[in-house]
Amino acid sequence: MRLAPSILTADFARLGEQVAAVCAAGIDWIHLDVMDGRFVPNISFGPLIVQALRPLADHYGALLDTHLMIVEPERYLTDFATAGADLITIHAEATPHLHRAVQMIRDLGKKAGVAINPATPLCMIEEVIDQVDLILLMTVNPGFGGQTLIPSVLTKVHRLSTLLNNRPIDIMVDGGVNPSTIAACAAAGATVAVVGSAVFGNQPIADAIADLRSALGEVPRVK
Ligand code: DX5
Ligand code: ZN
Repeated sequence: MRLAPSILTADFARLGEQVAAVCAAGIDWIHLDVMDGRFVPNISFGPLIVQALRPLADHYGALLDTHLMIVEPERYLTDFATAGADLITIHAEATPHLHRAVQMIRDLGKKAGVAINPATPLCMIEEVIDQVDLILLMTVNPGFGGQTLIPSVLTKVHRLSTLLNNRPIDIMVDGGVNPSTIAACAAAGATVAVVGSAVFGNQPIADAIADLRSALGEVPRVK
């Protein structure tokens, strides 16, 4: 399973240093949680942070995975693509024109993801499955790091895994993933795990990542 540390819970006064530390610990996806204060009850950051982290991502060969928790995401797709996002994930609940918005991401030459909140059924994304590279299932109600994973979403993960039927599409779980929940996420069929407070907490970053990998029964990878 791929780990995608979310910088939402990182120390923003030392953001570059912390991103470098996760990359040095063998991480090659960085999850950027963009929040507008309308789609979710929190405001985080915009394209400027993507732009600031792009040189570091290039140096380490890391992918910038941008999770847009914003209304009408079509308005900002070009800005995030220009800033250097590699993967742009939008919420099915945030636009009435999901097919067109996903097509816009592809036309910008970026990988496309679609996300749904815990109470949103899989049928909301069924019609765009063959357009996307990744499907993000929120395992908490979006807006904040450090929440508890909602166990019932894992049955949704399993149903999605069955629905995808070995298509080359990643299933991402996002929220509340830590050493005590990550194995269940993998068993349900998730292929990418967003990890925020489990990585940017009070233990050294490399140790936190090693704990997650050993919880998966993997040998800790260090570049
Ligand atoms: C919540 C964000 C999650 C969150 C994950 O809206 O989408 O990515 O930052 O943080 P943890 O892993 O602490 O739940
Ligand atoms: Zn996220």
